[in-house]
Amino acid sequence: MSSELDTMIRHAAAAMKNAYAPYSNFPVGACLRTDSGALYAAANVENAAYPQGQCAEASAIGMMIAGGDRRIIEVVVMGGKPGDGMLCTPCGGCRQRLREFCAPDVQVHVCGPEGVRKTVTLDELLPFSFGPENLSF
Ligand code: THU
Repeated sequence: MSSELDTMIRHAAAAMKNAYAPYSNFPVGACLRTDSGALYAAANVENAAYPQGQCAEASAIGMMIAGGDRRIIEVVVMGGKPGDGMLCTPCGGCRQRLREFCAPDVQVHVCGPEGVRKTVTLDELLPFSFGPENLSF
């Protein structure tokens, strides 16, 4: 594993520990690496009005934009419990959110607390996707 990926995983784990997920009890951490080399890590933020909850990926994208970056090079998403055998893949909405700022070949590392469980590309998560180019951006 690259040392950069290792660092991203540690940042995602730290964010996951700080998640605000009292309703689902399902903390998630995400870390984005951008073309500037910056890392943006964040967690899910739930709300008593359930639909107002925000995924970790959406939180991290907000931090990236506020930090002045636009291009995501690598993604880590971490959720679940050790040994649960599950993949905490980005939800459908977050696949589209990531699509805005990722090339199709950007790797998304789907992690549990112990490390990477599966690595896929954004295009595998969201094939035939609609993006900025469709609107000539
Ligand atoms: N969640 C994320 O933050 N990211 C994902 O990729 C999947 C789901 C959150 C949303 C909600 O706070 C909790 O996990 C349970 O769905």
